[in-house]
Amino acid sequence: MKSNKLWGGRFGNQTNASVELFTSSQLFDRLLAEQDIVGSIAHARMLCKCGVLSENERDMIVSGLHKINKEIESESFVWSDRHEDVHMNIEARLTELIGDTGKKLHTARSRNDQVATDLRLYVRKYIDHIIRNIDRLESVIIDLAEREIHTIMPGLTHLQTAQPISCGHHLMAWLEMLERDVQRFSDCRKRVNVSPLGSAALAGTSFAIDRRMTADELGFEELSNNSLDSVSDRDFIMEFQSVAALTAVHLSRICEDLSLWASQRFDFIQIGDDFCTGSSIMPQKKNPDVVELIRGKSARVVGNLTAIFVLMKGQALGYNRDNQEDKEPLFDTIETIDSCIDMLCQMLPGIIFNREKMRLAAIDGYTTATDLADYLVNKEIPFRDAHSAVGQAVAHAAHQNVELSNLPLKTLQGFCDKIEEDVFDILDIEGSVKSRNHFGGTAPEQVLLQIQNARNQIEARRKNMP
Ligand code: ARG
Repeated sequence: MKSNKLWGGRFGNQTNASVELFTSSQLFDRLLAEQDIVGSIAHARMLCKCGVLSENERDMIVSGLHKINKEIESESFVWSDRHEDVHMNIEARLTELIGDTGKKLHTARSRNDQVATDLRLYVRKYIDHIIRNIDRLESVIIDLAEREIHTIMPGLTHLQTAQPISCGHHLMAWLEMLERDVQRFSDCRKRVNVSPLGSAALAGTSFAIDRRMTADELGFEELSNNSLDSVSDRDFIMEFQSVAALTAVHLSRICEDLSLWASQRFDFIQIGDDFCTGSSIMPQKKNPDVVELIRGKSARVVGNLTAIFVLMKGQALGYNRDNQEDKEPLFDTIETIDSCIDMLCQMLPGIIFNREKMRLAAIDGYTTATDLADYLVNKEIPFRDAHSAVGQAVAHAAHQNVELSNLPLKTLQGFCDKIEEDVFDILDIEGSVKSRNHFGGTAPEQVLLQIQNARNQIEARRKNMP
């Protein structure tokens, strides 16, 4: 045999050294080692039960794989490009450790179903991890929302001051975004948790294998239906990347809020010194770099989504080596999402809200104009007429450079004679916020209800978390 490869039988000479380097993936796919070993152990046990391996052979393989696992964990394992990828590195080491029996492990299997299995186990593990992390972030946000439930701030549309809202309400809007992400991750998990093992290269195998047995041992809910699809399908990664990109976009929006609030123009919050960095030239600067980086890192996650979509587009069935390129963007997305969520979990509790500044900003800009219009509607004025009368009142107040609530009653009555003394209750921002008292509204009572519901939901989820 002229080639030193595990697959080298039909080759007349050695692989070109630069080809070896170009095709090798061990440097990054070694992250799948844990899943690869667990998958191989399940496969070996199944082969034994089906009479392909003896019990002795099975035990040798299983204990060899355990030993390899320890070597990898303790970083004494020697990885080599000569063995191309994680699968071949482990198999080669197994044979080195236990001799020819190691060569039997790959019976009734191909790297095509092997890598698909490893990836599914890996994505499943990190879905659970990410859900736990978002869950943690949600609790941080809920606690913050409870703390700031009576803090009033301007709610914005078009980035213009629109209506006063409870700061707790704003924070709970973040929670809603993240909660949908959790639901999408759990839903995605169902399609990830399907066993492709036994599909072999593309057509299945002539050995009488028991696919149910390996699926059960690996905790897969279902078996894939079609061996050709099983080895070529990467939908589960595309779906995971989509959900992750959505989450990253949400994180970027949260961070954009924080970045605006921390700016001198807004001055709504102070981010802890320990989460900011300085400028190398301007001594006075304190920059919210963590927030900006989370916002920025969403770009790579969306980029990773694009990478997997383009990778899969137009690929013929079944397995193509292109698929080796599915891994780095996947690992990067997991790592990025994980660190961004972790940063927010650490940073948010230390944020100080400048409540008085926020309150003043909520008064500025005629934010209770809608309340005045609603007040007039309650006095039997049609909404369009009310809208117009209030518009004139606002123009007048703006001309005088005062707030609506500073206009004398007589002046207000000049715009509509239905206005009475009680108008000042609704022109006040606390009254305005309190009046939006229906499910989903910004009244503190409703925000508290949102908080309670969210806590109950999280509590229920934690009970079912894997
Ligand atoms: N390293 C390969 C990958 O990541 C494993 C599968 C290789 N299969 C093959 N037939 N060459 O996709």
